[in-house]
Amino acid sequence: MLITFEGIDGSGKTTQAKKLYEFLNSIGKPASLYRDPGSTPLAEEIRRIILNYQMDSTTELLLFASARSSLVWERIFPDLRDGKIVIVDRFIDSTTAYQGYGREINLGTVNILNHIATRGRKPDITFILNVSLETALERLKKAGKSTRFEDPEFLKKVRSAFILIHKQEKERKIYLIDGERDEEEVFEDIKSIVKLHLFY
Ligand code: TMP
Repeated sequence: MLITFEGIDGSGKTTQAKKLYEFLNSIGKPASLYRDPGSTPLAEEIRRIILNYQMDSTTELLLFASARSSLVWERIFPDLRDGKIVIVDRFIDSTTAYQGYGREINLGTVNILNHIATRGRKPDITFILNVSLETALERLKKAGKSTRFEDPEFLKKVRSAFILIHKQEKERKIYLIDGERDEEEVFEDIKSIVKLHLFY
């Protein structure tokens, strides 16, 4: 089973992905946790390049796709074959939201690259952590995080894009989770949804 966490920077998705990983392992369900871009030596190197260089949108899109391809091929597919639950912090919907809606790259092009990088494997469950722009910016300020993806106007577009993806992709299991609440309250929602899929 492939579970992905999505949301704008500062939405709390990384915390929730980690909590789910720890919970599943604690109840004897072997799980792995990865971040996209990253989690293979090559993808971590690509991540460093993406975060440290200015570049045009298409180059950026291709680098995200390359990092994802490496992660899918070297980590996700072998783990799924071993029967593990694979949790990924960001995946295809981030590319649709950031490069498609955010950078305004043609959505057809984005979809093709997502398809190539994942070999067509879609997530079984996706959680989109939804917070207001104000909350996200406040959390990022506190964490001292700043990259070229955190411009407020840009994040605003990306935030709306995630909500739109949730509305439009009805054939997938995408859950829009209110991330404004206390960390534990948010996790209760996520836990009950995952349990439902695992045990029923
Ligand atoms: P992270 O810090 O959440 O791991 O993500 C790094 C940055 O990369 C984040 O600002 C979002 C951005 N990003 C994209 O623009 N497109 C993508 O496809 C992915 C996976 C991340």
